[in-house]
Amino acid sequence: MNYKVPVIPGDGIGPEIIAEGKKVLEAAADKHGFSLEWIEYSLGAEHYLKTGELVSEETLKELSAYRAIYLGAIGDPRVKPGVLEKGVLLTMRFYLDQYINLRPVKLLEGIWTPLKDKGPKDIDFVVVRENTEDFYIGIGSRARRGKSHADFEVKRTLYNIKFGLDIDSDSEEIGYQIGEVSKEGCQRVIKYAFDLAMKRRRQVASVDKANVLSDIYGFWREVFLDVAKGYPQVKHDFNFVDAITMWFVKNPEWFDVVVAPNMFGDIITDLGAMIQGGLGLAPGANLNPEGTSMFEPIHGSAPKYKGQNKVNPVATIWAGAMLLEHLGQEAAAQDIVAAIERNLFEGRVKTYDLGGSSTTSEVGTEIARLVGSV
Ligand code: IPM
Ligand code: MN
Repeated sequence: MNYKVPVIPGDGIGPEIIAEGKKVLEAAADKHGFSLEWIEYSLGAEHYLKTGELVSEETLKELSAYRAIYLGAIGDPRVKPGVLEKGVLLTMRFYLDQYINLRPVKLLEGIWTPLKDKGPKDIDFVVVRENTEDFYIGIGSRARRGKSHADFEVKRTLYNIKFGLDIDSDSEEIGYQIGEVSKEGCQRVIKYAFDLAMKRRRQVASVDKANVLSDIYGFWREVFLDVAKGYPQVKHDFNFVDAITMWFVKNPEWFDVVVAPNMFGDIITDLGAMIQGGLGLAPGANLNPEGTSMFEPIHGSAPKYKGQNKVNPVATIWAGAMLLEHLGQEAAAQDIVAAIERNLFEGRVKTYDLGGSSTTSEVGTEIARLVGSV
């Protein structure tokens, strides 16, 4: 079996960590008798600065022909914040309708957590972040004093929405942003969370802020309750987003599957990464179960470490394991996670963030070697 996989190393440390990810995935492929053919795409800052193009319709179409994409990181200080993130990363997530952002929060053996008296048994949950709606739809602007009008459009595989906004303001200037969630959009991601819980410890916690943003998140909660009715075997509860940050720290063992709207999911998964040992260890998968999914570390492009062969490649390698699992190579994926665990447990070859002094490529090489012996 040969798999063609588009790979987007991207910006900053992206190329360094992706190189190690490819190394480890190839070792797992060798061991399990399949092969990987990487199709490189040079999206990100260099491409943008050279051509003025973020990502073309043609490239998006091409990408949509594959089942899984491997992504490093997008973002560069030479470009205004948000341009590449929205223009490349979010554009791909939306165009490919990757409505699930799956982020495991799992403390591996041998890793230090800042949470006192908590260990790997206590920190093992998954955040299912909605990935196409909410305050991420990009609808917003600024308006100066007086009357103005703005038109916006949300184009999704699921639906198209047009907003027309008349503004009459006597403030000097305002900035505003509209969040939107749809019934279909909430249903599909919440359903995914319940299905996942059926395969785990049968518990789903929902995240919202229905006490204040009641139109948008009250609606989310209503859909959540409705979906929950179809899963009487699964325990469910609600958490306000502010409160759940507290519980993640105090009682992480309470959680099995956590389902959250896009923005809250973004925020709480950085906290999740920290309790599992740091951003260098946290993988993520942008899933479209019926289409093209994309696998990436949850951290950014860390431009200050670019080219130093210094950062931790584990998050990217782990994301690669999720990619192989998605392609149906479960045994290879398990071997990679086992090799990561072995490497971290032995603690000989580790990067600076874990208190070591090994390089990015030494860690990749060591995990690739361990894949052969787990
Ligand atoms: C993430 C990142 C992105 C997000 C940024 C880079 C647009 O923070 O994947 O969590 O907000 O989704
Ligand atoms: Mn984030």
